[in-house]
Amino acid sequence: MNKRPAEIKPATGKLGVLIPGMGAVATTFIAGVEAIRKGHAKPIGSLTQMGTIRLGKRTDGRSPAVKDFVPLSSLDDLVFGGWDVFPDTAYEAAKKAGVLSNEDLAKVEGFLSGIKPMPAVFEPEFVKKLHGTHVKKGKSKLDLAEQVMADIAAFKKQHGCERMVMVWCGSTEVYRQAVGVHQTLAAFEQGLRDSSPDIAPSQIYAYAALKSGMPFANGAPNLTLDFPAMIELAKKMNLPICGKDFKTGQTLMKTILAPGFKARLLGLEGWYSTNILGNRDGEVLDDPESFKSKEVSKLGVLEHILQPHLYKDLYSNIHHVVRINYYPPRGDNKEGWDNIDIFGWMGYPMQIKIDFLCRDSILAAPIVLDLALFLDLAQRVGFSGIQEWMSFYFKSPMTPEGLYPEHDLFIQLMKLKNTLRHLRGEELITHLGTEYYD
Ligand SMILES: NC(=O)c1ccc[n+]([C@@H]2O[C@H](COP(=O)([O-])OP(=O)(O)OC[C@H]3O[C@@H](n4cnc5c(N)ncnc54)[C@H](O)[C@@H]3O)[C@@H](O)[C@H]2O)c1
Repeated sequence: MNKRPAEIKPATGKLGVLIPGMGAVATTFIAGVEAIRKGHAKPIGSLTQMGTIRLGKRTDGRSPAVKDFVPLSSLDDLVFGGWDVFPDTAYEAAKKAGVLSNEDLAKVEGFLSGIKPMPAVFEPEFVKKLHGTHVKKGKSKLDLAEQVMADIAAFKKQHGCERMVMVWCGSTEVYRQAVGVHQTLAAFEQGLRDSSPDIAPSQIYAYAALKSGMPFANGAPNLTLDFPAMIELAKKMNLPICGKDFKTGQTLMKTILAPGFKARLLGLEGWYSTNILGNRDGEVLDDPESFKSKEVSKLGVLEHILQPHLYKDLYSNIHHVVRINYYPPRGDNKEGWDNIDIFGWMGYPMQIKIDFLCRDSILAAPIVLDLALFLDLAQRVGFSGIQEWMSFYFKSPMTPEGLYPEHDLFIQLMKLKNTLRHLRGEELITHLGTEYYD
């Protein structure tokens, strides 16, 4: 130990996990947690459940499980709720999403059937392909935010939750940039009172969560948290926030491969990515305005990893294209193709082809679990504002104004684990390693 560990409040009592958007990702996450609690499945893909963390020197032989190293809520203490624009129970929604087999769903049917979404805050203007009916009515956007706060308070009381976290798993809203109402908390609150058309439903949930003392994570690429007013509110309430857009599928592969090309100084001429996807997410992303949010989130990755301004000969002229095509027969089982044109010694070209037959929600579910548990840890430690150490989970990690995000998956993992070591007063691992040769 090199310093005193941080004071961390214990993870006792129930942790409420509230989710706006109870579709494929949310129901796969909830069903999985219940299946794991009953011993039917293993939490594969979850760092909080299956990961280990090396402490001290390589020769020390200390690699505890992450969940034994930092105090995290036990899966048994998680309770789930949420909102959706459709009234389907979590069981019905999971059936429609078609991610998990009937056999797996049957084992948790009773549990999922008991989870009924609360009526949503929804505006069709922000998700054009959806026509939900299970929607709140309000005199103003402030009134809607207050209704969400009342839902949160009622849920907390009903389930006896000690603490709560919110993770947005709702559909991708249309692309918007921050404008006047997003600049200060006062302007945002005035915008709520005036029902400003610039305030999206996801922002109303985020506002209600933070006002209710709940940390918030944004799993979609829409503008929900990453503007000055929301960061101001998170700081004021001393709450952690993170986002955005779960890093799964093609972008996960990109942030695994691109750091390797850069490490070996292999040049890149083009990266063409296309997907076919047949779930509701795919349908929503068929709308160009929702796709724009996704595209911006997906395109940023290569630029930041490859740093063309530092490696002009290798990366200054990259053709990066990302396409998503809605193709119903595939359901949630996306197929993503990548054609990567790289070049090596003396400029000789080479190609790499990837055909990833992936299951989006299977990749996203463990991320939701880790985010819920780490956000709760962060709140018990007293961290507030943007949690950069959770960038590991996102396609477009939030950073303060003027700081570029770190996209390299391996640097992100090191940052996450070093944050945990730092919390526990352990030596940070720098990989310098001279001590082995002294
Ligand atoms: N699956 C992945 O790998 C992955 C990766 C990154 C991001 N995401 C994002 O996560 C989100 C969820 O993905 P999914 O596959 O579960 O989609 P989905 O369409 O199955 O579920 C989204 C749900 O949100 C509901 N919804 C929409 N607007 C709402 C609102 N205002 N309030 C409450 N509910 C609302 C919809 O009715 C739907 O049930 C999407 O935005 C998606 O882009 C998913």
